[in-house]
Amino acid sequence: VFISSTLGSIAKMTEPHSVTYRASKSALNAVARAASLEWNPKGVVTFVMHPGWVKTDMGGPGADIDVATSVTGIREVIQRARPESNGGFFDYTGQTLPW
Ligand SMILES: NC(=O)c1ccc[n+]([C@@H]2O[C@H](COP(=O)([O-])OP(=O)(O)OC[C@H]3O[C@@H](n4cnc5c(N)ncnc54)[C@H](OP(=O)(O)O)[C@@H]3O)[C@@H](O)[C@H]2O)c1
Repeated sequence: VFISSTLGSIAKMTEPHSVTYRASKSALNAVARAASLEWNPKGVVTFVMHPGWVKTDMGGPGADIDVATSVTGIREVIQRARPESNGGFFDYTGQTLPW
């Protein structure tokens, strides 16, 4: 599982935000997607997750959710992962995100 961000979604780039952060997460998404194709035949399920906008040092106190909510959600999505999860992009609730 790669921890990315919805800010790396090119499909969702409709408002200005940090160019370099966005580019780094788009690149990470590409790595994960490519890796999912390389590693799946070896039995590895690979996917990308957006943790939500979380109250951390990075997210700041005005963020949507606390760390426990994000981490609990991420753990549940990982626990529910199936072979068909390979190559996916999901948020902490399990919702599929556009690339
Ligand atoms: N918070 C959000 O709303 C949000 C939203 C979308 C995606 N994300 C993603 O979620 C992940 C975690 O973010 P966060 O909010 O927890 O960020 P954070 O509060 O800024 O914490 C970042 C963590 O990464 C460590 N770190 C930074 N540079 C490092 C390096 N070069 N080598 C090793 N460790 C390093 C820091 O260690 P030190 O404490 O030792 O500096 C810190 O523990 C990131 O990938 C971020 O892009 C976060």
